[in-house]
Amino acid sequence: MGSCSDRLSTMYSALSICVVTLSTLAASACINTGDSPYTQREELTAVPSGPLSFSEHVLPIFQRHGCTGCHGAGGGTAQLDTTSAAGLAAGGRSGAAVSPCAASDSLLQTRLADCSMPPAQGACLTRVELDTVARWIDQGAAATFDAGICPDPPVD
Ligand code: HEC
Repeated sequence: MGSCSDRLSTMYSALSICVVTLSTLAASACINTGDSPYTQREELTAVPSGPLSFSEHVLPIFQRHGCTGCHGAGGGTAQLDTTSAAGLAAGGRSGAAVSPCAASDSLLQTRLADCSMPPAQGACLTRVELDTVARWIDQGAAATFDAGICPDPPVD
């Protein structure tokens, strides 16, 4: 009798270790996919001046916050790809994530500013990061700045 329940409880603890390990693996997979050396970069302390580019200025912010892990290339969660300017222009299940030249009309900016993205609590973008993304959108939300896209882009 005793030995049987001993065996059962051993089985249960082995099972729970397994579940814990699996959920740890799943969590780290979500956070780590798409990470790059950018995530090691220091936090931005000021909005960069001059023309911004997606890969230099915006992508590192997304990588820092795990966006690219969930919304990866080729249509990730919510069919959204945050790894390129083209992916954001194509958008996700709600349509285009950016409205070029108009950050205030962009779903992306709304979801970042109200801190519903990223979903983890306490992981909101900083004011400087928010303003950097907004500035990139107001400059046209292109891969690299194109002086012809927006009537009055903020470049100084
Ligand atoms: C842990 C996974 C996860 C992370 C990290 C994450 N998202 Fe999301 N995101 C989701 C899910 C799930 C949805 C769909 C549910 C919703 O709209 O809230 C979503 C929806 C969105 C949408 C709306 C898409 C649409 O077309 O409706 C945008 C925009 C977005 N995320 C941007 C971001 C950005 C930018 C980041 C990083 C700052 C980010 N997300 C981080 C899981 C994630």
